[in-house]
Amino acid sequence: MQDSLFIPVLAGTTREQRKSFWAAQLVAEVGSTIEGVETYLVDPKVFYFPGDGNDPEGKDARYSELTSKADGFFIVTPEYNHSFPGTLKRMLDSELENYNHKPVAFAGASSGNWGGVRAIESLVITVREMGLVATYTDMHFPRVQDLFDSEGNLLDEKYRERCIKPWQELVWMARALKKAKNSDTQNN
Ligand SMILES: Cc1cc2nc3c(=O)[nH]c(=O)nc-3n(C[C@H](O)[C@H](O)[C@H](O)COP(=O)(O)O)c2cc1C
Repeated sequence: MQDSLFIPVLAGTTREQRKSFWAAQLVAEVGSTIEGVETYLVDPKVFYFPGDGNDPEGKDARYSELTSKADGFFIVTPEYNHSFPGTLKRMLDSELENYNHKPVAFAGASSGNWGGVRAIESLVITVREMGLVATYTDMHFPRVQDLFDSEGNLLDEKYRERCIKPWQELVWMARALKKAKNSDTQNN
């Protein structure tokens, strides 16, 4: 029996009419069906990241606790001007050591046809500096406004299936890194 993994899904925006949140809900839903995986959808509307940086007064203690116990992360980002939102950057920036040597998978969402590919590409540079280990099987939600109904229900089931492969790679990487950490307590 393998150790269970805790892998939060990070949603990237607080925008009022946000559609990428539906994609994040779907990604979390798929994650929760994987045996041995516990997940949690981090909604930046509910968490509190008041400013920039990682000073104690700018942190949300719930996010600190969650990132500390996480074995990996799945980030779902919308594409804003060929990058990812400032909200997501503030959320990520609020911690540092808690990310070290943990894997991260990506899903991108956009109103255009590219499904957030440029947002993911720009995120990769950032997460590497944080000590996170990027997986390479990305998930894309192009024309995200057409993929869900007005209540966030998925209209095309193949997008649920497409979430599985990135999750599998993320889980594999999380297990591998956790095992390495457990056997090498000096270099974590
Ligand atoms: C500030 C801003 C910039 C955007 N820039 C892009 C862009 O560069 N490329 C793109 O395909 N869509 C862009 N969009 C549209 C979003 O991809 C679209 O809103 C999509 O639904 C995902 O974002 P959401 O979760 O905020 O809805 C932008 C939206 C906003 C609010």
